[in-house]
Amino acid sequence: MQIISTTQALRDRLKTEPSVAFVPTMGNLHQGHLALIRQAREQGRCVVVSIFVNPLQFGPNEDFANYPRTFEQDCAKLAGLADVVFAPMVADLYPEPQQVFIDLPPVAAELCGTFRPGHFRGVATVVLKLFNIVQPQAAVFGKKDYQQLHVIRAMVRQLNLPVEIVAGETLRAGDNLALSSRNAYLTAEDRTEAVRLYWNLALIRESIIAGNSDFSALECAAIADLEAHGWRVDYVSVRAAESLAPAKIGEMNLVVLAAAWLGKTRLIDNLEICLNADKGL
Ligand code: PAF
Repeated sequence: MQIISTTQALRDRLKTEPSVAFVPTMGNLHQGHLALIRQAREQGRCVVVSIFVNPLQFGPNEDFANYPRTFEQDCAKLAGLADVVFAPMVADLYPEPQQVFIDLPPVAAELCGTFRPGHFRGVATVVLKLFNIVQPQAAVFGKKDYQQLHVIRAMVRQLNLPVEIVAGETLRAGDNLALSSRNAYLTAEDRTEAVRLYWNLALIRESIIAGNSDFSALECAAIADLEAHGWRVDYVSVRAAESLAPAKIGEMNLVVLAAAWLGKTRLIDNLEICLNADKGL
């Protein structure tokens, strides 16, 4: 496995690679990332993983400075899984102030976009830059960041980017908490409580499968339960899985998404609800 830190060196390394599969990350890798990287192995001969904490996608009061940076441990986990680790410095990816951005569809300003203005613009811009540098045939993104996956797919489709976007399933801990780098921020007490987010999403999914289509009442009940247990909720929202538009009665493929704060930690999670398949269970 090679570790490369400059754009030029990466371009030189990949020049002769017939097919590249790419997994962009911000490091602090956990089993969820490693599963995406294993999935990438099925997509291309050469697997490139980037580790870059992208300042452009953090708001002024967010955790950019404190975001867990664990480069040595990350590289140890990647040995044998990735062919190339691309770990540029901020000055290499942004040698001049970034003034060209991706203008995203309105859905990027909803859900997490409401609470993290500019977040998806920063994500899409760095992902496009990374795609241009790595030029992968395929790139793998986790469904854990469902809205991010949606926005990246829209960018690729609407800008005709020659890359196949592959979605990876969310990995969960034994108690069903979705794996996330930010789980590292949770205190021991909060870690026990954190699974309540999943429980509420699972309850909404069960209720919808059982025939309840009062989405707004289901969302309000979940918010009330979380708040009663000390959470500060950004949103709980049932959406159409394909468009991420607010869910309408009769739609078969839905997703319930949530973001909420437990202490100083903001957690996000989602569950897909496929009424055809789920009804048959
Ligand atoms: O999902 C992430 O870790 C980041 O948003 C990404 C896609 C690596 C862009 O910085």
